[in-house]
Amino acid sequence: MRRPLVAGNWKMHGTRTSVAELITGLRHLALPGGVEVAVFPPCLYINQVITGLEGKPIAIGAQNCAVEPMQGALTGEVAPSQLADAGCTLVLVGHSERRLILGERDELLGRKFAAAQSCGLIPVLCVGETLEQRQAGRTLEVVGRQLGSVIEGLGVGAFARAVVAYEPVWAIGTGLTASPQQAQEVHAAIRAQLATENSEVARGVRILYGGSVKAANAAELFGMPDIDGGLIGGASLNADEFGAICRAAGS
Ligand code: PGA
Repeated sequence: MRRPLVAGNWKMHGTRTSVAELITGLRHLALPGGVEVAVFPPCLYINQVITGLEGKPIAIGAQNCAVEPMQGALTGEVAPSQLADAGCTLVLVGHSERRLILGERDELLGRKFAAAQSCGLIPVLCVGETLEQRQAGRTLEVVGRQLGSVIEGLGVGAFARAVVAYEPVWAIGTGLTASPQQAQEVHAAIRAQLATENSEVARGVRILYGGSVKAANAAELFGMPDIDGGLIGGASLNADEFGAICRAAGS
């Protein structure tokens, strides 16, 4: 049985004051048993969140990491070893905003994935197609290539200690959600791709759905057989809404 994971991606949102408010809201949440909960604050606020959530069973992750595992001369970047030292246990790799706005490519993302794992962090590999790619019928090919590039570089065994997040780009921050059936089709394809190499890894890996998840649509999405939780953007900035999504994963 895969334990569901609900992760809040705060993106580039927050000030010290609003982060403090969100921490207070999260501290008050009644979280369901059997669901793993995580938040990904902007790097600058990771310390504040780790301190503020002490004792609360919420894991902390970073939204990005350097390609090199250890600290060194790499201006502007944060090493996975530094994230682990700060108390992070997870890191997003290849969010579509970084792929599309910053031009992060599969090869670079494979290096980040490996660097993160070498420091004991769990990478959350984000994959997903654009609207144009979906309309051209290329969804499974695009997602398959993004996933395949990490499998080729690091071996399927790397997914024994990783999470995959399927996030259709056209559903992110748009209010458009993939239907549960649309999402399930891609999640099943991701699991099948892993299974061709190693069925045990495929059975164990958690595949999250992301893209305009909210309390109102979460239960239906999480009810699909290959959807093991969610990566939540906008709705994770509201503690009550985020709590309701976490509870939907437990039901
Ligand atoms: P959204 O973002 O929930 O605001 O659509 C999801 C994400 O980008 O991780």
